[in-house]
Amino acid sequence: MSDKDETRLKLLEMIEQKTARIGIIGLGYVGLPLALHFGKKGFHVIGFDLDSRKIDKILHTDAKQFDVTIDFSRLKEADCILICVPTPLSDKMEPDLSYLIETTETIAGNLRTGQLIVLESTTYPGTTEEMLLPRLESHDMKVGEDFFLAFSPEREDPGNKEFTATNIPKVVGGVTTSCLEVATAIYNAITRTVPVSSTQAAELTKLLENTFRSVNIALVNELKILAHKMGIDLFEVINAASTKPFGYTPFYPGPGLGGHCIPIDPFYLAWKAKEYDFSTRFIQLAGEINVSMPYYVIEKTVEALNKNRKSINGSNILILGIAYKKDIDDDRESPGYAIMKILLEKGADLKYNDPWIPKLHTTRKYNFQMDSTPITPDLLEKMDAVIIVTDHSDYDYAEIVKHSNLVIDTRNATKGIKGATEKIVMA
Ligand SMILES: NC(=O)c1ccc[n+]([C@@H]2O[C@H](COP(=O)([O-])OP(=O)(O)OC[C@H]3O[C@@H](n4cnc5c(N)ncnc54)[C@H](O)[C@@H]3O)[C@@H](O)[C@H]2O)c1
Repeated sequence: MSDKDETRLKLLEMIEQKTARIGIIGLGYVGLPLALHFGKKGFHVIGFDLDSRKIDKILHTDAKQFDVTIDFSRLKEADCILICVPTPLSDKMEPDLSYLIETTETIAGNLRTGQLIVLESTTYPGTTEEMLLPRLESHDMKVGEDFFLAFSPEREDPGNKEFTATNIPKVVGGVTTSCLEVATAIYNAITRTVPVSSTQAAELTKLLENTFRSVNIALVNELKILAHKMGIDLFEVINAASTKPFGYTPFYPGPGLGGHCIPIDPFYLAWKAKEYDFSTRFIQLAGEINVSMPYYVIEKTVEALNKNRKSINGSNILILGIAYKKDIDDDRESPGYAIMKILLEKGADLKYNDPWIPKLHTTRKYNFQMDSTPITPDLLEKMDAVIIVTDHSDYDYAEIVKHSNLVIDTRNATKGIKGATEKIVMA
């Protein structure tokens, strides 16, 4: 048996016996649950993050379940390193790989024989082999022999209780066949794996999934505007279409796209496509439609206030829900912020309520310093308009409609509430 076989077989045996130590870099929405899942399966997990506040928080809540540190020299202790750092867009809508490059350079500085590195962050096809591999490989550290490198996209759906890391299949692509073998072995310990032929195929799989969502959401958003003009309830139509047992997947319209994935990921692909002189027209069009939706909500609000002889300027408006989707505490890229910004610019007197997000913080794009206002009958009665941006399950929609003067419903949340339809405007 050659040395290279020995390195691979030793790591496979450690994974099999659960003595392999798992290092997870980036303990956010993706990394933290992943750390907990590997911990529950009996692996020793070391979580790494730059954010000491996050580390302190974990030390207070999940400390017994895994080890956390800001000391990256401890990367040497890990046999399998999973990278879950952010991959945002720059102001110019271009991939910002700065977090990833910094992490890769830190790993390179601590790399030792027998380690597996897997990138989980969403990115364009080619990243693993163009950005990570050259930084990790050297003449005495050869990929597939001395260390292993793979890409496996994260499919975590925050707030989804039915599908979690233990029952969502994991797509895996390796730089070499040995890399693929070792990477599938580690993920097989927590869920079912789907091996693909290359890291590029695994990278593109994730972008196909999210582009598919973005395009389909744009389609129903566009149809919603048309259906309003035609006096047809698109939600009723979608429910009817959903009874078709094949060839149709329901998507629902809303106030625009939010979250860290759907508004961002397709642009990673669009950016990379330019290298091939290729224009991804579906991605561009879906982006335009989805970005325009907050303006549509404003248009409907202006019309509805106008019917009440009011203007946005000087009106009291309450935003219900600032999380980008229901029942989660993630407000990244929330269309609610775009709506708030336009309303403030037009002179509205704004309040918001979100049981999941008690305070608004300054972000790269917005600077709202507000606390969530408790919903009371008195507050609702004082509002000229209430805009339902996120349909959290905790809201009592009948009470909200009962006490409000005007409800702009972007989510069909007031469906079935009787006797007050003249107060409700669908947007
Ligand atoms: N949130 C989701 O639902 C979701 C789903 C699928 C894929 N993804 C992808 O997963 C990746 C991570 O997303 P997230 O939502 O968990 O992000 P997040 O912002 O919640 O967490 C990222 C963490 O990484 C830390 N970090 C940043 N730079 C670091 C560095 N150099 N070293 C160590 N830690 C560092 C941050 O402090 C933060 O705690 C992104 O590529 C995202 O596109 C996210």
